Amino acid sequence: MSVIELPYTPDVAAQTRPIFERVAHVIPEVEWAIHAPYVAEIIRLKRERNAVVLAHNYQVPEIFHTVADIVGDSLGLAIEAARTDADVIVVCGVHFMAETAKLVNPEKTVLVPDLRAGCSLADSITAADVRLMRERYPGAPVVTYVNTSAEVKAESDICVTSGNAVRIVNSLGAKRVIFLPDEYLAKYVASQTNVEIIAWKGHCEVHERFTGDQIRAYRQDDPSLVVLAHPECPPDVLAEADFVGSTQGMISYVDRSRPARVVMITECSMASNVSANFPDTEFVRPCNLCPHMKRNTLAKVLHSLQTMQYEVTVDPQVARRARAAVERMIAVG
Ligand code: 13P
Ligand code: SF4
Repeated sequence: MSVIELPYTPDVAAQTRPIFERVAHVIPEVEWAIHAPYVAEIIRLKRERNAVVLAHNYQVPEIFHTVADIVGDSLGLAIEAARTDADVIVVCGVHFMAETAKLVNPEKTVLVPDLRAGCSLADSITAADVRLMRERYPGAPVVTYVNTSAEVKAESDICVTSGNAVRIVNSLGAKRVIFLPDEYLAKYVASQTNVEIIAWKGHCEVHERFTGDQIRAYRQDDPSLVVLAHPECPPDVLAEADFVGSTQGMISYVDRSRPARVVMITECSMASNVSANFPDTEFVRPCNLCPHMKRNTLAKVLHSLQTMQYEVTVDPQVARRARAAVERMIAVG
């Protein structure tokens, strides 16, 4: 993709001023001159194409706070994708999120700004692996994290996200379940339920790098620090946390409790995105970047809307079965 340079004209400056005022504390004015022309053009093209931009909580602030129509965690994005009446959905997240949007909106055009935005969890398991697990543990329902390909979802009984995994596992009424592919999320769910959990060895390359020692060091520096952690973190990290939850769960926690100082043990952009709405809370910012999420840029979002690339499609046979697993999850609530 060749990046077109767009000029920061007085017209663009005036048009984007209200947006800049919203993000001024996270995006410096010198940087705004680079982003604003893209923001203005993306907004214009969204109208022309009847498109919406869905952005995951890990997107950079210049996407999250400016061109995104819907922001949230994987569950929120899946639910909102199912509700939109736009013709085109641009997913600023990773590939499995775009596939999920396509599954629940088969008749719409779903685009991603960069096809290479994958996920180490989704890459850790194939549909054949799921079939082997079923053979090894006959009768156990297969519960699959949404961070998987459509092929893997199609082999599953029900999907979960980090926000609803415990509730959905409990809702099945089974003595044991096969829980794929995140080993640490599986262990966390096992710690919260009496259901026997059979796990896989998939890991998130971002969250597996956090350590319990790191959290203990933060606490030693400031015993009043509130620690929120994503359940994709290793168990010794979760054992140190005050709260464990999805990205949206962490945002709700900050909203409810308004801590004076907080650290969110998750991807780097979260703190920048959330801090915008909570000026009285100080955010300690560990910085583990997700290289896949970071492939999305404003220039690529614009390119996507201009060229209607890169379209995400799912084989109809696979889609039918994968959609059933996602819709069962949404139905549980
Ligand atoms: P959430 O559903 O909590 O937003 O998590 C998605 C993800 O990819 C975490 O790494
Ligand atoms: Fe996948 Fe981890 Fe990136 Fe989330 S943060 S998209 S789980 S690699």
